[in-house]
Amino acid sequence: MSSALDGGVPGSRGSGVRRRQRPVLLGRDAECASLEAVLAAAGAGESGVLVLCGEAGVGKTALLDHAVGTARGFRVLRAGGVESEMELDFAALHQLCVPLADRLGELPAPQCSALETVFGRSAGAPPDRFLVGLAVLGLLSVASDEQPLLCLVDDVQRLDRASAQVLGFVARRLGAERIALLFGARLPGRELEGLPRLEVTGLHEADARALLAPVLRYALDDRTRDRIVLETRGNPLTLLELPRGLAIEQLADGLGVLTGESLSGSVEESFSARIAELSDESRMLLLVAAAEPVGDPAVLSRAAERLGVGAGDAPDELSGLLTIDHRVTFRHPLVRSAAYRGATSRDRRAAHRALAEVTDERADPVRRAWHRASAAAGPDEEVAAELERSADRARARGGLAAAAALLQRAVALTGDTARRADRALAAARISLHAGEFDMALRMVGVARTADLDELHEARAALLCGQVAFASGHGADAPPMLAAAARRLRPSDPAAARETYLEAWGAALFAGELPAAGRLLDVSRAVAELPPADPPRPSDLLLDGLATLVTAGRSAAAPLLRRATAAFVSPDGTSDGDLPWGWLTTVPGNVLWDEHSWETINARQLASARDAGALARLPIDLTATAILAAWRGDLAGADAAVAEADTVIEVTGTRIAPFGAMFLAALRGWEDQATALSDSSIDAAVRGGQGIAVQYARWTRAVLCNGLSRYDQAFAAAHQAAAEAPQLFLSAWALPELVEASAMTGNADVGADALERLADVASAAGTDWAEGVTARSRALLSAPEDAADLFDEALDRLSRTKLRPELARAHLLYGEWLRRRGRRVQARTQLRSAHEMFAAIGMEGFAERSRRELLATGESVRKRTREPAATQDLTPQERQIAMLVRDGMSNPEVGVRLFLSPRTVEWHLRKIFDKLSITSRRQLRDALPPG
Ligand SMILES: Nc1ncnc2c1ncn2[C@@H]1O[C@H](COP(=O)(O)OP(=O)(O)OP(=O)(O)O)[C@@H](O)[C@H]1O
Ligand SMILES: [Mg+2]
Repeated sequence: MSSALDGGVPGSRGSGVRRRQRPVLLGRDAECASLEAVLAAAGAGESGVLVLCGEAGVGKTALLDHAVGTARGFRVLRAGGVESEMELDFAALHQLCVPLADRLGELPAPQCSALETVFGRSAGAPPDRFLVGLAVLGLLSVASDEQPLLCLVDDVQRLDRASAQVLGFVARRLGAERIALLFGARLPGRELEGLPRLEVTGLHEADARALLAPVLRYALDDRTRDRIVLETRGNPLTLLELPRGLAIEQLADGLGVLTGESLSGSVEESFSARIAELSDESRMLLLVAAAEPVGDPAVLSRAAERLGVGAGDAPDELSGLLTIDHRVTFRHPLVRSAAYRGATSRDRRAAHRALAEVTDERADPVRRAWHRASAAAGPDEEVAAELERSADRARARGGLAAAAALLQRAVALTGDTARRADRALAAARISLHAGEFDMALRMVGVARTADLDELHEARAALLCGQVAFASGHGADAPPMLAAAARRLRPSDPAAARETYLEAWGAALFAGELPAAGRLLDVSRAVAELPPADPPRPSDLLLDGLATLVTAGRSAAAPLLRRATAAFVSPDGTSDGDLPWGWLTTVPGNVLWDEHSWETINARQLASARDAGALARLPIDLTATAILAAWRGDLAGADAAVAEADTVIEVTGTRIAPFGAMFLAALRGWEDQATALSDSSIDAAVRGGQGIAVQYARWTRAVLCNGLSRYDQAFAAAHQAAAEAPQLFLSAWALPELVEASAMTGNADVGADALERLADVASAAGTDWAEGVTARSRALLSAPEDAADLFDEALDRLSRTKLRPELARAHLLYGEWLRRRGRRVQARTQLRSAHEMFAAIGMEGFAERSRRELLATGESVRKRTREPAATQDLTPQERQIAMLVRDGMSNPEVGVRLFLSPRTVEWHLRKIFDKLSITSRRQLRDALPPG
């Protein structure tokens, strides 16, 4: 696709990679200094990004050109959006990367093939957007090894979405390459949110006057001139263009008509006025050029020939509007839009028809289809079908946004209402997967303008529910998904059941916030479904989860166990793309079954990674982190949390920091734990993610028990255990509640909690559940029974991998023995507890054991487990250090963390410095074991 860097200076020739003749920039010292600073840093090995923002004509492109002029020794790559309704996925990205095509082979194979697929050089599975991002980052990084790079991406507001997303990703992940990435944008979309910005505003008065003086064709008095300067607000393009298009009387009025919003409108009008004076032929030529997004002079000339407006060179009267040399370049993007929008619809269609005719169907089927569509005067099934085929092709290349746009176009050209609804729903589905939620809802709206039959209406409702869930895991989704499932029941029972699973999962996230009973509503509806015959694993899962809510744990346990067995078995479902796939680990939580939880989670995680299902990956990684934390592998949990955070940063998925909350609580880091749970509760209430509230309360109970603040632990555990849904969180809160009750003398509450916990354990029947229950029972039982119960707890928990739970059994046993005056035995238990807590890194509980030991007369030094130096590492450095210690190469770490290998190397050097080591091998000793 063409560079749309059309904002050249009068007399500039073409665009593209060549240097242009630059005007002297007036009044831009500060802006130039910022640009030069980015370039200097990039030259020295620290990549930088700057997004130049400002209204049309304010001088963004001029500043980018200036950067090109000052970037000595840099290789310059340019790309830009183009004025066209055409959405061709990755078009701008292609333009940027084409000059580097010979380096593709230096990328890891998956990245290389992702880019080849995206650019249509080879057929392959549609690559994940983030894999493409990583590949582009890698490609630029490789190229910058040889020579620093200046990448310019102008007219961001017109970039195709896929390119904008990938470039936004790349901008965020730059590090220690030698790359300066500059954007020019009227309105930087959400893809570039949060990146360093440079607001470009109008020129100061003196500079504006200096710019205006040479263009004025009439002598003006100072007052009028000052008024023009004032009303153009120093916008250079307006200053340069408006006076040309206006008559002296208008000028004398000081432009009068200008208001803020219409500034660029006025400039466009001024261009329109010039276009209106052109001969018919020139105007048509200009229109064809405007309708042709590539800027290819050969295509333009062939199309123009068909229309009888032959185009070798642009006629003189087009000078100052259009340049044709090795590319077709507009004086300014506003010329292009003036030419296109000012034309009659008949002329526009004629231009597109001619362009379609000269576009090679085999070489460029999508573009041809698009031109044909733009040439159609009304519904046209043949063209619509061609667009549909093009959409399939775009989708096969990973171009989801383009596929959606093409289908959207096909919808508009489809006369048959039923078929139109089908296509609109297909467009909606693709938009949802592309993360284009608004567009998805718009397409559902289009589908609904037809009289939808029940099945189509159900699908429409499902899409709305899925959008609601995907965009925030909030409270709106469950009733919508449940309604969709209800509608699907008669026509597609299997789809209805899977939709109920989605609804159940959404209700689990929403928790208690919206209105009590949603999980119950969904579960009751499921209970009324005819049984699935034969049941698929997903059916067992659904029935088990629903039964859990409607009839309780013991009734649900057999079903949940069967579902779990099906998912654990080697041929169990592990489709990373299934919207409800993450629910397969819930039975493991409910049944306190760490082994199936581990197996299924590992499988889900691997398949979500393989499928590039990044929107879901944070959920799987969170489950990984929580399980690792339960097992006292805090370093492993840290790594999973950090990876989830990385993915969340690039996808924008909204999910509470579940892993980090549990970790901070186990560690006894009060400030961090409190800050995390406060902000999570706040965000959860706002976003309708009720599960996070309950979760925060449970982790607070763990924290406070560790810190020996039993009143607070009691309050938090009481809330967490009371809150429906009575699934795994409320059950996890029960032992905390029993412990805090025992410590605070709340015998009744404790006894009640213990009874509930015993139910949980009998349904679960695992050593984890039974062991924790025995430990809890010991706390509340008569002295003659307690010792046996503690022994049972130690015995059972030592058969699990849950070291924190075992250590807590030692601690409670030791405390109990000490209170009975059995000091020697108490010391043995407390010493075990203390050592385990210290080794795991549970500082709060370690301190509680240390104080107990002191009370038995044994003094122990306070210990911090981590070698002091590792505390200086940032979370990202810590994560890199651990991955390298575990044997990953720099490129492998880069793939995991979305960084270029060069940036990984750079971090590693800093890590070595901080740890005072010199080799990767030494990391093993320098880091805590994990
Ligand atoms: N500081 C300046 N001094 C002199 N001329 C300038 C200055 N800034 C911009 N110009 C001129 O003003 C015109 C418009 O500038 P430019 O094309 O850079 O605007 P832009 O912000 O890129 O607009 P758009 O959003 O439409 O792309 C150009 O002819 C440019 O050469
Ligand atoms: Mg510009």
